Amino acid sequence: MSVIEDRPALVGEAHLPAVLNDLLAHADADRADVLRARLAQELPLLRDRLSRLYSNTPDYAQWLNRVLVQTVQTALNRPADLWALDLQREANPNWHLQGMLGYCTYTDKFAGNLAGVRQRIPHLQELGVTYLHLLPFLKPGTPPNDGGFAVASYDEVDPKLGTLADLQQLTRELRAAGISLCSDFVLNHVSHEHAWAVQARAGSAQHQSFFHWVKSPEQIAAYEKNLVQIFPNTAPGNFTFVPEVNAWTWTTFYPYQWDLNYAQPIVFSEMAKSLLQLANHGVEAFRLDSTGFLWKRAGTNCMNQPEVHWLLQALRCLTNIAAPGTLLKAEAIMPTQDLPPYFGLGDTQGPECHVAYHSSLMSASWVALAEENTQLIQDVLFHTPALPEGCTWMTYVRCHDDIGWNVLRPELDARGPDQRSRLLHASQFFAGQVEGSYAQGAAFQASDTNAVHGTNGMAAALVGLKSAQTPEEQFAATSRLILLQSLSLFVGGLPLIYMGDELGQGNTSAAELAARQGPDGRELHRPVFDEALFAQRHESTTTAGVIYATLRAYVNAKKQHAALSAEHALRLVPCAHPSVLVLQRGEQALGVFNFSGTNVTVSLSAALPMHLQTPINVLTQQAANISACELAPYASVWLTAHGS
Ligand code: GLC
Repeated sequence: MSVIEDRPALVGEAHLPAVLNDLLAHADADRADVLRARLAQELPLLRDRLSRLYSNTPDYAQWLNRVLVQTVQTALNRPADLWALDLQREANPNWHLQGMLGYCTYTDKFAGNLAGVRQRIPHLQELGVTYLHLLPFLKPGTPPNDGGFAVASYDEVDPKLGTLADLQQLTRELRAAGISLCSDFVLNHVSHEHAWAVQARAGSAQHQSFFHWVKSPEQIAAYEKNLVQIFPNTAPGNFTFVPEVNAWTWTTFYPYQWDLNYAQPIVFSEMAKSLLQLANHGVEAFRLDSTGFLWKRAGTNCMNQPEVHWLLQALRCLTNIAAPGTLLKAEAIMPTQDLPPYFGLGDTQGPECHVAYHSSLMSASWVALAEENTQLIQDVLFHTPALPEGCTWMTYVRCHDDIGWNVLRPELDARGPDQRSRLLHASQFFAGQVEGSYAQGAAFQASDTNAVHGTNGMAAALVGLKSAQTPEEQFAATSRLILLQSLSLFVGGLPLIYMGDELGQGNTSAAELAARQGPDGRELHRPVFDEALFAQRHESTTTAGVIYATLRAYVNAKKQHAALSAEHALRLVPCAHPSVLVLQRGEQALGVFNFSGTNVTVSLSAALPMHLQTPINVLTQQAANISACELAPYASVWLTAHGS
């Protein structure tokens, strides 16, 4: 489908500002040629988006020239291996859609520090990982710092984890192993210890203008009426009083995370500069943190404003000029209906992020498990749009955050006024508060047991692996975990495994939790990597071994069978059984997922085309019987038409 607006006509060299022409005239001729072509491609959109945002600010033209010079200079400084990688990826722009597998972890919990991560590369390779998301590793503010999401310096590595040289070495070794490093890029806010915040407190008017200020409780009340609360228990409200300034600054998250004011052009250009610098250190993907909150507008919920997309599109243009082999991933944990613009499908269309988290699919999968009913997953997939060329979903079972339930409200509201209670049921189910629940999670940020916010816990604890008393219960829990991973792997262009889930690792121990600083309940699913389980990964008699081997089999199948590629469209296949989800991938592949705890037999013949009537199970290579497809409790099968 062609949803991206036609690119404006190319501009020639003559249209570049004189400073750029000068810079390129003195640069390496080959690089200069490439850069002229990239500028010709990107400048029309870039100029449009930046002028929408900033053309009314003083000295706009000079600022724009500085941004362009800074970007081209970064491109000219790009290390030769990364420059070559860019050229390769420009020639194969869908490189990131081909058999990718992500892995997400905290550096310290996985391997101590960045140097330690290098030692873990063989493990990542064995699993088939091609994309490693290390949670924040830049220099954070003094703890508590939201697990590093309060950044004090974007140009330095957290000294506890290493140095810039360690980062460069790690990215080089990962690249050699076929793994792209993804770094968080915390765009929305900085630590109150960041130099800008320090100078703002010291009275610098310029630095104060980099943040948002509110002068009175009345103004706060007017804003709060429309705003959501991210941490209603531990950080209620969205504003924090700063005595030195005698005003409240905007803090969507914790009080020590000060939201940036992107109405100031220099905030955008400085953040873009740091991002491109990190790309030159070898970071190949950026997880653009909390993107939905970047622009504030009185009278709205200050989420997903049009300017957010102009900012992201401008950032994409700059990245396309200086580091085009780099992926941008939107961390926008929003209902499915709000996500298309992050792929550039909004009112102002244009290339934006390559990847976005499909958090609704993740949350709906957990609801499906609690209800043994796949209706909500089907609703979510039904509302999931086809994506523009070069874009894909990041699917996942768990991550370092809670499972947020409220992203599912639109799908539930569409089914009727009483449907939100299903979220309360799921939340209580995974907190182990419902009769018959096997889960050992905990509610997040809900002091009232009837309030629904999020759920914490490692996947293994939530599926009952840690409460299982008998081999049968153990088997059922293992099957549930594999079922969720199988769905994520089947649907995602870039599926992500959260550290420890490949081995069925459980929650952080009570003793360790007690020793950790801060009241953040999400620590429950941020354990230290379990070496003992890791040692069992090749033992087929252990649960860790079974989970690991099965995941690897699915990952390999996905790499080997072109029919399973997420480049082919996904279609919901009608199925009479409410617990069973049937998905058709392109013309040649099927995924069948049983979310119930009982054996189920379904007939799919009537709903499938001829060439899928006698498919082969990709893991066992056995022929499958589509007219009476038998599924064990929590089982899933991936099928492909013969030979594909
Ligand atoms: C993102 C992160 C989360 C963090 C928040 C504020 O949502 O995933 O862990 O608390 O941003 O930076």
